[in-house]
Amino acid sequence: MISDADPLRPYRVRRERLLAHMAAQGGGVAVVPTAPERERNRGTDYPYRPDSQFYYLSGFREPEAVLVLVAGATPRQLLFCRSKNGEQEIWTGFLHGPEAAAERFGFDEAWPIEELDRTLPGLLAGQPALWTGLAANPDWDRRILAALASARANVRTGIGAPRTVHEISAELDEMRLIKDEIEIALMRRAGKISAAAHCQAMRTTRPGRFEYEIEAELLRVFRAGGSQFPAYPSIVASGPNACVLHYVDNERRMADGEMLLIDAGCELDGYASDISRSFPVNGRFSDPQRDLYQLVLAANHAARAAIRPGNDWNAPHEAAVAVLTQGFVDLGLLAGKTEDLIETGAYRRFYMHRTGHWLGMDVHDAGQYKVDGRWRPFAPGMVLTVEPGCYIRAADDVPKAFRNIGIRIEDNALVTADGCEYLTEGVPREIDDIEALMRE
Ligand code: GLY
Ligand code: MN
Ligand code: MN
Repeated sequence: MISDADPLRPYRVRRERLLAHMAAQGGGVAVVPTAPERERNRGTDYPYRPDSQFYYLSGFREPEAVLVLVAGATPRQLLFCRSKNGEQEIWTGFLHGPEAAAERFGFDEAWPIEELDRTLPGLLAGQPALWTGLAANPDWDRRILAALASARANVRTGIGAPRTVHEISAELDEMRLIKDEIEIALMRRAGKISAAAHCQAMRTTRPGRFEYEIEAELLRVFRAGGSQFPAYPSIVASGPNACVLHYVDNERRMADGEMLLIDAGCELDGYASDISRSFPVNGRFSDPQRDLYQLVLAANHAARAAIRPGNDWNAPHEAAVAVLTQGFVDLGLLAGKTEDLIETGAYRRFYMHRTGHWLGMDVHDAGQYKVDGRWRPFAPGMVLTVEPGCYIRAADDVPKAFRNIGIRIEDNALVTADGCEYLTEGVPREIDDIEALMRE
């Protein structure tokens, strides 16, 4: 058995919570597969990452694994995984094998993955419901529906089969929305590593260098900090590239007088961070750059101040939009009354995305933004991004000084009992602090 000090205990606690949710809704069997391995090209796979839901419930990182939870009077927790295989382990490394995996990861039983298809119909027999994720992976859909069909084919023997299929994401997404202590600790560490990487990017950026050189600095600090992957492809976008929201080519040479927008975050033990900073390539903000930067910074502050229990999901976005739209008018980028420009959405010409998203194992994390048609209220333990920006593409009606400037200031906020805490304080946000760091 696992002890309280066991780092894998939280995963078992999560499985027990899910089992309790299932039992409260009539019980049944949950079947959750991990992610498939995917070929990148001949002879090379994409780096393997477990499925978020599977990993959330198991802590198990090997491919080809499926967990099965049976709710009811005597709940059972089963893992199907790869068998020990001396020959294969020489090539691709250690495999736990079912016996060691059950012991280490706190499952009641574990079986070779080859047994899954033969065993599943029996596990479904006599159960009221199947809980699984459908319509995400056609191979899984086929496999689990075949098991269900097989269980149903036996009903003539008098043994029932699930009559209900529940989308398990509905339960798991709600659980994942509120982070537990283990998750928060990991997200703090991920935020620290990513902040250090952004500081390194600020220190090493200068005119004449290429965007990819700065990307390399980011990746080095991520990996040196123990992160396994970037949480998403890093955006290192100088000059006009900063106005392309998902620019990831990162191959342009940066010039004096331009701004650089970096959106990059590491993934640590399955948890993402997601930071954006924008700063002048030469280390000194020009007046127009300063004007736009201060505007986005004011929007970041306003959004942050709106994050607290009692407010709903949309409050930070509304706060940011109000600040930005007023600023666009003050700077001569938009003409008209601020309320009208908000009402008609005219501000979207320069600010076309939302002010944040849930953050967790997935960069755009699990969890509904509306419940029963209403924006969701904040609660302690939620983690979200705060990422106002402005993107001023060149156009005849745009003042020359503002053309080709793209700015985003993105932080990661943990909702607390009376407000929020930024997990990304390790990289400067204020102009003086950025300029000081870039002088180092
Ligand atoms: N880096 C992805 C995002 O900001 O949503
Ligand atoms: Mn983001
Ligand atoms: Mn981002």
